[in-house]
Amino acid sequence: MTIQLINASVTFNGVEKVDALKNISLTINKGDSLTIIGPSGSGKTTLLNVIGGMVPLTNGEIFVEKQAIHQLTTSELQKYRRTNIGYIFQDYRLFDQFTVLENIMLPQWPYQSKEKMEEKAKALLKELHISHRETALPASLSGGEKQRVAIGRAILHQPDILLCDEPTGNLDEVNRNNVMDILNMLREQGITIILVTHDHEVAKHGTKKIFIRDGEIV
Ligand SMILES: Nc1ncnc2c1ncn2[C@@H]1O[C@H](COP(=O)(O)OP(=O)(O)OP(=O)(O)O)[C@@H](O)[C@H]1O
Ligand SMILES: [Mg+2]
Repeated sequence: MTIQLINASVTFNGVEKVDALKNISLTINKGDSLTIIGPSGSGKTTLLNVIGGMVPLTNGEIFVEKQAIHQLTTSELQKYRRTNIGYIFQDYRLFDQFTVLENIMLPQWPYQSKEKMEEKAKALLKELHISHRETALPASLSGGEKQRVAIGRAILHQPDILLCDEPTGNLDEVNRNNVMDILNMLREQGITIILVTHDHEVAKHGTKKIFIRDGEIV
C-alpha cells in the first residue's frame, strides 16, 4: 500500500498544548517497510496512530492508496482500521482470560463465521510455531510466545499495513530475531510493515528509515 503524509501535524490540546507531530511529509511506497527511530516523546507512537486512523490530524493530509484518511467519517474510519490495519505492541496486550486460540480470533469475532476464523487461526498458529500452546492462557507463555500470539491476532484479517510499536522491546536476542524473521516474512508476502524501535539491530531491517525528534523528521 502506498501511504502518503503531506504536511501532517497533530496537536494535543490537554492541560498543556503539545505539538506531537509538526509538518510531517512522508511517502511509503508499496513494498517498502519503514523504521521509525527517535527519543521518548518525539511522536513515534502518534505517527503510528495517525497511519492507523486512531489519531486525527490537526492539519495536513494522509492518503492510503487513493483514500483520504483525514476526510473519513467515524464509521468509515472503523472500517479502514478493521480491514487495513494490524497493530502490535511492546507489551503484547493479550486478553488474559482467553486462550491463545481465542486471543487470535477475538477481534474478528463479530465479523466472521466461527468455523472460518478457527480454521485460519489454527493455520496461523502453525505458521507461528505455537500450535502446541493453543489452549494455554497468556500468563503461562514466554515473552516470545506472547508476541507471536499478538502477531497472529494482528494479521488474522490479512491487513495491508502492520503497525509495530517497539515489538521486540521486551524480548531477548533469540526471540527478537525470531519476531524479526516473522515480520520480514510478512513483508515478503506484501504487508507494509511500519516499525518503531530503539534497537539498532532491529532498525537495520527496514527498507526505509526515518529519525524523528520533537515531532519533526530530522
Ligand atoms: N493523547 C494524548 N494527549 C496529550 N498528549 C499526548 C497524547 N498522546 C501523546 N501525547 C504527547 O505527545 C508527544 C508525543 O508522544 P508519543 O507517544 O507519540 O511519543 P513516543 O515517541 O512514542 O515516545 P515513547 O518512545 O516514550 O513511546 C509527547 O509529548 C506526549 O506526551
Ligand atoms: Mg511510543
